[in-house]
Amino acid sequence: MHIARQDIDPGIDLFAEIERLKRERNAVILAHYYQDPDIQDIADHLGDSLKLAQDAGSTDADVIVFCGVHFMAETAKIVNPGLTVLLPDLEAVCSLADSCPPDAFGKFVKEHPGHTVITYINTTATVKALSDIICTSSNAVQVVAGIPEDQPIIFSPDRHLGNYVMRQTGRDMLLWDGSCIVHEIFSEQEILRLKDENPGALVLAHPECEANILRHADHIGSTTSIIKFATTDDHEKFIIATEEGVLHQMQKLAPHKTYIPAPTTTGCACSQCPYMRKITVEKVYLSLRDMQPVIEIDEQLRKQALKPIEKMLAL
Ligand code: 13P
Ligand code: SF4
Repeated sequence: MHIARQDIDPGIDLFAEIERLKRERNAVILAHYYQDPDIQDIADHLGDSLKLAQDAGSTDADVIVFCGVHFMAETAKIVNPGLTVLLPDLEAVCSLADSCPPDAFGKFVKEHPGHTVITYINTTATVKALSDIICTSSNAVQVVAGIPEDQPIIFSPDRHLGNYVMRQTGRDMLLWDGSCIVHEIFSEQEILRLKDENPGALVLAHPECEANILRHADHIGSTTSIIKFATTDDHEKFIIATEEGVLHQMQKLAPHKTYIPAPTTTGCACSQCPYMRKITVEKVYLSLRDMQPVIEIDEQLRKQALKPIEKMLAL
C-alpha cells in the first residue's frame, strides 16, 4: 500500500488518534514481537504466533488491526470470522509462507498418501486446508511427538524447523524444502567470534535458524520462549539469533542485562524482517481511519483451514 504523507493531517497526534479510533470502532491491536518498538508499545495484545492466534479467537472486539504478516492476520480471520481483520499493509507477507505454493504442495501431499500432514502456521490458508494439524514454533515438537510412532509424517514448510523437530523427537519426517530469509542469514563464524569476545554469553536461537547456528545455541524456542529465557535466566549476556524486534521486550523487562543481536552473513547486525517492518504507525492509523485493507477469505476455504488449526488449539 502506498502511503503519501499528505494522506495524513500533519497536525494530528497519531498515537492519540489511534487510541480514539480504537474506542470508536471497538478495535484492538494485535502485534507480533518482530514489530517496530513503537507498534509493540501501542498493542493491546503482544505475542508470538500461537498467542496471537489464541487472542484473536477469544477477543470480544469488533475489529482487529493485525500488526504482523499476512498469514497471521488470515489466521485471525479463520478463527474469528465475525470480526473485521485489518492488515495495515497487504505487502507484509512472509518468505517462508511464500516458499510453499499451494499447487505444488497439494501435488506433494498427493504423491505421498497415508502421511499425516503437519504444517507450520507460517503458511497460506490453502496450504493449511491441505493439512491435518497446524503447529507453531512453541508446540512443533509436542505436535510431532503426539503422532503414533508408526505413522509417516509430512512436515511443512520450514526444513530447518523440521530438521530440528526430527533431532528433538527422533522421528523421521518427509520435509518440504522451505525456509525463512531472515533466519537463514545468521553467520556461524561471527557468532563464534562474539562468543569468544563475550565469555559467559549464552546464545538463544529460533528453530527457523539453520542447524549450524542451532548447534551453538544454549536455548532454542519461539519468540516468547526466547524473551522469557533471556529475562529470567541468571546469566547477564545473551546473543540473540532471531529477528531483533524481540530485544525491545527484553530491554523493557530486564534492562540491566546485555542483549547482542546475532550478526548476519551480510556484515550487517540488523536482522529485521522486511515484511514485518512494512507495518508502521502511520499505516496503523490509516487502516483504522479508513477501515482497510480488510482480510477476506472464502467461507469454504476458511472452514477447511480452521479444522487443523482447531486441532492445534485443542492441545
Ligand atoms: P513465533 O512462533 O516465535 O512467533 O515465530 C513466528 C515467526 O514468523 C518466526 O519467524
Ligand atoms: Fe516470515 Fe521469516 Fe518474517 Fe517470520 S521472520 S514473518 S518466517 S519472513
